[in-house]
Amino acid sequence: MGTHSVRVIGTNKPVELPQSARLLDALLRLRMPILMACGGKGLCATCHVYVESGTESLSSPTPREQSSLRMLANRKSCSRLSCQAKVNGPDVVISVPEGRYFESSKDIEILIGRRTEVDILHPVTGALLIAAGMLISRSRISQLAQVTIDIDELRARSESIQ
Ligand code: FES
Repeated sequence: MGTHSVRVIGTNKPVELPQSARLLDALLRLRMPILMACGGKGLCATCHVYVESGTESLSSPTPREQSSLRMLANRKSCSRLSCQAKVNGPDVVISVPEGRYFESSKDIEILIGRRTEVDILHPVTGALLIAAGMLISRSRISQLAQVTIDIDELRARSESIQ
């Protein structure tokens, strides 16, 4: 069966993955900073990718993946959750949505008074929370407290799921 190549746009070399490895494994091998907020259970936005070509080489989305994809603000028809998509054939090319996922307000408190260089995205819905270039204020961070609660809920829910 051999291996299958996956190329991530913006990186130099394709990654060779064994049959049925996850697209996520390509991102991890490239040491891309993937938050995996739900621990790879198909419940969040943090491993979301766009499949630029080779869709037919991937496993079909499960009902759980489909329902998580419907929640994504930045989804396209080629969106997949990389922890759910298995690579079963050749020549897959993917790209990763731009931006960084918000994890906790502590993470970005150090940026108070500065402008973000990248979009900051909601880790469950992929919605834009702070656009690149916006000034991060203390009040903006306190508004994001709800997001931290969402992530905590997500983690608790994902622990109860196989
Ligand atoms: S890591 Fe959460 S959906 Fe893939």
